[in-house]
Amino acid sequence: MSATAIIGTQWGDEGKGKVVDLLASRADMVVRFHGGNNAGHTLVVNGEKTILNLVPSGVLHPGKICVLGAGMVIDPEVLCAEIRALRARGYLSEDRWLRISEQAHLIMPWHRLIDRARERLRGTGAIGTTGRGIGPAYEDKMARTGIRVGELFDEDGFRSALERCLAEKNGHLQALLGESPLSFDEVHEQYAGYRDLLRPHVTDTNVEVRAAVQRGMRVLLEGAQAVMLDVDHGTYPYVTSSNAVPGAACAGAGLPPRLIARVIGIAKAYTTRVGGGPFPTELTDALGERLRADGDEYGSTTGRPRRCGWFDAVVVRHAVQLSGLDALAITKLDVLTGIDPLRVCVAYDVGGKRCDLPPGTQRGWAHAKPIYEEVPGWSAPIGDARSLDELPAATRRYIDRLSQLVEAPVTLVSVGPGREQTIRLGEIF
Ligand code: IMP
Repeated sequence: MSATAIIGTQWGDEGKGKVVDLLASRADMVVRFHGGNNAGHTLVVNGEKTILNLVPSGVLHPGKICVLGAGMVIDPEVLCAEIRALRARGYLSEDRWLRISEQAHLIMPWHRLIDRARERLRGTGAIGTTGRGIGPAYEDKMARTGIRVGELFDEDGFRSALERCLAEKNGHLQALLGESPLSFDEVHEQYAGYRDLLRPHVTDTNVEVRAAVQRGMRVLLEGAQAVMLDVDHGTYPYVTSSNAVPGAACAGAGLPPRLIARVIGIAKAYTTRVGGGPFPTELTDALGERLRADGDEYGSTTGRPRRCGWFDAVVVRHAVQLSGLDALAITKLDVLTGIDPLRVCVAYDVGGKRCDLPPGTQRGWAHAKPIYEEVPGWSAPIGDARSLDELPAATRRYIDRLSQLVEAPVTLVSVGPGREQTIRLGEIF
């Protein structure tokens, strides 16, 4: 009678989609508890690539209930497009396989406009947001001026919420951001147009998720983004606008803390991030380009090239400690093949002081220099390995060293994008 949470331990894009997809085969329900279509999962099943932004990765397994929880911000245009595309490929054949929280907040057209205009105004200090309106939607939620999914189906309530919001947002868009005002009729018509497709899925998901856990169903809580993008624990202000630590799953999925019994973290065998902000182990040379090319490190949501660098144990250690990780999955190990020696950041030098955990201030980050350890690399391809003993000795030593440095047991290793390119080292879910 408990749920398992899965979270990213770096700056996102750790390959959570593949791991959730793998574990989903044993789950009954997969729940997203925060974020929106800033997330993107690329899944490769039988050589066919699927990109999902809102619907949890479990959807590609028939008979799993996928939930968009109360902690999410949902762009209905993107969600409707995703539902149609999935249905066209034979998924989501019944309404009950997708549940959408009536408490999740709607991303409205002004959120996207404000997000992008603000980034333009920030100039060189831009956060590098995905431009999907995520931050402004969460701001309105906290300011108690947001519109929730459930309100979409109450015509009078929705009209008055829209009038109230547009009065304020049009002033903001014109006076402060130099944007054109939005028309009530156009926004109303567009959003009313989503009702028919969404209505059968919208419900009180908190009750359904709790009931599922209490009935002994296997429930996976799928984190989006990652610990270093968490609004409190990441590289603020270069973060997303929600909490990505597993604690956020309680509020975002409507679960009491004691019902989350297990936390699995995902770490890439090296490090990437998109957008601006600190990245001590970044490689801006040919090796960084090689990682980008070999790892296909381009954002699945925005197509932006990702910044690449060495594995940073300080970052993953922070995630392990904050999240109480029970197990760690290491992904994309195959991308490191042929790089010898490899480097791993074991600690930071912050103004002459050795630190095992990340700084808590922008000033600290500006002074954080990685302290590296060199470890031997390997040259033989590993994509066909299906057990630890099929891996070169140097690869096994690399895995052991990462596990030791971040103080978490490695229970799964991914050696390629396919479902089958996975080595399980223990019971993970
Ligand atoms: P936002 O979430 O669109 O506001 O973007 C804030 C920061 O988080 C930017 O650096 C984004 O690139 C980053 N970000 C948001 N979602 C993801 C994700 O799913 N993977 C990687 N980076 C992300």
